[in-house]
Amino acid sequence: MKPLIAANWKMNKTVSETRAYFERFLPLVEGYDAADVLVCPPFTSLQAAREMLEGSSVALGAQNCHYEDAGAYTGEVSLPMLKELGVSFVIVGHSERRHLFNESDELINKKLLACLRHGVRPVLCVGEKKEEREAGLTFKVVETQLRLALSGAEELLSRVEVAYEPVWAIGTGTPATPEQAQEVHAFIKSLLKELNPNAEVRVLYGGSVKPSNAKAFLEQPAVDGLLVGTASLDPESFAQIVKALE
Ligand code: PGA
Repeated sequence: MKPLIAANWKMNKTVSETRAYFERFLPLVEGYDAADVLVCPPFTSLQAAREMLEGSSVALGAQNCHYEDAGAYTGEVSLPMLKELGVSFVIVGHSERRHLFNESDELINKKLLACLRHGVRPVLCVGEKKEEREAGLTFKVVETQLRLALSGAEELLSRVEVAYEPVWAIGTGTPATPEQAQEVHAFIKSLLKELNPNAEVRVLYGGSVKPSNAKAFLEQPAVDGLLVGTASLDPESFAQIVKALE
């Protein structure tokens, strides 16, 4: 399995900033094929990103979706809309969606199943809060999130990516240690094997990944990629992370 290095831009970059980003980023990773690369801009930049990515192997993803195909859901964006823009991945269940926008495990499950129905790969994010880790609940929280989000998706598990993103490590500058990531990733992989023994699922680490620590995460046996927020906003730093194992 090639590692997947994914950028989550969150609510950053206008259309013109998106174009300028790819003008710098694409030459830096051209011809590098030791990792799969995914960029998830905001909805408004998808069309510009798609144009810039034409002919490149960098995949395009969205940060959210609705589970219905169309209808009276003001402000929402559906999978048929995203697919027409060349989107092949959608981040589902990001901790900011869970905690700032109150997304439930049930809603996340609906979104994940909708992605699979449309042939789009969900990147399912799970992770514990600081107080949950301190209370020794990390495995329990991660297991509950995984089981609920993946309910009904067991057969299609090889079309899913999972991202372990401890909430306390996101945007804080304090990542998990590579050993902490390895421990939870190994647990996630054993759970995924239980759900579908035949599925090969990449498990990405996310939370304060930077050029200086990317390699140490990727060297862990159960870490199959990275989901990068802040450090993906700068094309040079994201390119360094993509090539961390070079
Ligand atoms: P961060 O964000 O790299 O800024 O910690 C990661 C994420 O939220 O996916």
